[in-house]
Amino acid sequence: MTPADLQLKPKTDPTRPAGETPETLGAPQGRDALIVTIDGPAGAGKSTVAREVAAKLGLEFLDTGAMYRAVAALTIDHEIDRTDEQVVAKLARDADLHFDWTTDPPTLLAFGKPIMTRLRDRDVSALVSPISAMPEVRDVLVTLQRRIGGRHPLLVTEGRDQGSVVFPNAPVKLYLDASPRVRALRRAEQIGAGADLDSIEQKIIDRDLRDSTRPVGPLVKPEGGTVVDSSDLQFDEVVDALVAIVHEKVGADLLTAIRRRESRG
Ligand code: DC
Repeated sequence: MTPADLQLKPKTDPTRPAGETPETLGAPQGRDALIVTIDGPAGAGKSTVAREVAAKLGLEFLDTGAMYRAVAALTIDHEIDRTDEQVVAKLARDADLHFDWTTDPPTLLAFGKPIMTRLRDRDVSALVSPISAMPEVRDVLVTLQRRIGGRHPLLVTEGRDQGSVVFPNAPVKLYLDASPRVRALRRAEQIGAGADLDSIEQKIIDRDLRDSTRPVGPLVKPEGGTVVDSSDLQFDEVVDALVAIVHEKVGADLLTAIRRRESRG
C-alpha cells in the first residue's frame, strides 16, 4: 500500500453523495489507516463473515446494517410518518447514533440509550428496506460512517455500499457474492420445514434487481474490489479466503498499523 492508495478522489468523484467535500468525506488517511470494506448482496452472509474476518485480523468491526435498522426502529417507536423522508432523516440526525466501542460487540446507542435488542424485531426488519432507500437517510448515515472510519481507522466495515460509496479509497475492498440459489437454500434452512425454495429464490432475484438499479446506494461491485463467490465454500473457507486477500494486499501494513496502535496503548 502506498500513500497514493489512501488519497481522496477528486471532487468530481461520482461515487460521492451530493454535498460531500474532502473535509466531510472523512476517509481515514495516512500510515495508520487500514479499512477493509465488505460489500455484497443480502443473504451472502456478509455480517457473520465480516465479524469473523475482523476478529482474525485484530481489527474493529462496523455493522452498518445496524445503523439502518436503528433508524427504522426509531421511526416506528417515535410514531413518525414512515413515508416522510425529511422527517425520518431529521430523526436519524437527532438520534446522535453512535457506538460504545468498549463493549464486544460494540453497542449502538440512539438518543443515548442502547438500541441493539430492538434491531432484529420483525417490524423493524420489514421497514428497514424502504428506510434504507431514502437518499436523505443514506446521506446522514454515510457521513456518520465516514466519521466512525476517521476515529476507528483499523476497521472491517460491512454493508452494501461500503467500498463503492462510503470508503471508495479503502486499501482493501471485498465483494462477497453467492448465487441466488445458494442464498435461497441458506434462507430455506433458516425457515425450516415448509420453505418454498423456488419462491424464495425468485424473491432474491427480484430484490437483487431492485437493489442494483436503485438511484441511491445501489448494489454495485466496488471499482478495484475483489469479488469472492462463496456459493461453493463453507463458512470457514470464506473467512480464510478473505483474510488471505487482506494479507496479500496489505499484510505488512496491517501488522505495522496494529503494532503502532498497541504501542500507543
Ligand atoms: O445487513 P442488514 O440486514 O442488517 O441490513 C439491514 C438493511 O439495511 C437491509 O435492507 C440492507 C440495508 N443496508 C443498506 O442499505 N446499506 C448498508 N450499508 C447496510 C445495510
